[in-house]
Amino acid sequence: MTKTTLITGANRGIGLEMARRAAARGDRVLASVRDPERASELAALPGVTVLGFDVTDPDVLAEAAAQTGPLDLLICNAGQLRARGGIDDPEHTPEIWDSVLMTNVAGVFFTVRAFLPCLAQAPAPKIAVISSIMASSERAPGGSYLYRASKAAATNLARNLAVDLKDKGIAVGAYHPGWVRTDMGGSSADIDAGESAQGLLARFDALSLETTGVFEDYRGDPMAF
Ligand SMILES: NC(=O)c1ccc[n+]([C@@H]2O[C@H](COP(=O)([O-])OP(=O)(O)OC[C@H]3O[C@@H](n4cnc5c(N)ncnc54)[C@H](OP(=O)(O)O)[C@@H]3O)[C@@H](O)[C@H]2O)c1
Repeated sequence: MTKTTLITGANRGIGLEMARRAAARGDRVLASVRDPERASELAALPGVTVLGFDVTDPDVLAEAAAQTGPLDLLICNAGQLRARGGIDDPEHTPEIWDSVLMTNVAGVFFTVRAFLPCLAQAPAPKIAVISSIMASSERAPGGSYLYRASKAAATNLARNLAVDLKDKGIAVGAYHPGWVRTDMGGSSADIDAGESAQGLLARFDALSLETTGVFEDYRGDPMAF
């Protein structure tokens, strides 16, 4: 049976590559973008329907969910990396903290909450939260405070959602996609977005109610919470 997969932040980077690969293997892909005018590559992919929403807007998320039927896999991929420096980074403003925390943390929560009724209609629904090794308790080299804190919170959300949603039959995992050559990861990163997307989709396939609550990377290596 055809699976329906929804990916947020899919107009570029890892989200775009997950959309491409999920559609190529036969999923019905719903791919969300903030600005459909800047999503021509995504919109041209066969099997992909483009949805327009910002993950920080619960009303628009609710409207999108009301038009979505059964959902097998929800991938919370949209994310922002700002204030990459140390304490003195001028990007440490209330506005930038607000924007990153709203997207990386509240955006995950709002997206999951909006699409729960759709997930509940699928036979074996799953939620994947794209976190980062920068959230891992094993890695605290200093700097990038805002991003690290936001992804640590996103991982924590995933872990607690896994507990609450297990009885509803919904499995939840948090994932590090690798250090990936995208606008966010930069050109010196380790792997391309295709390799990351392929690995992540395989990890989501492996996710089950037995493994719900995992935090692992795109190769399946466990991450420390
Ligand atoms: N690249 C890496 O090395 C790396 C490593 C660890 C984790 N990650 C995580 O992997 C995910 C994808 O990263 P990427 O490298 O593909 O980043 P990217 O190229 O910067 O793309 C980020 C995507 O998120 C979308 N987005 C940002 N804020 C949004 C909002 N409020 N509502 C909806 N969409 C929003 C962007 O849309 P616009 O085009 O409209 O801005 C874009 O589609 C992120 O969660 C990131 O934190 C990446």
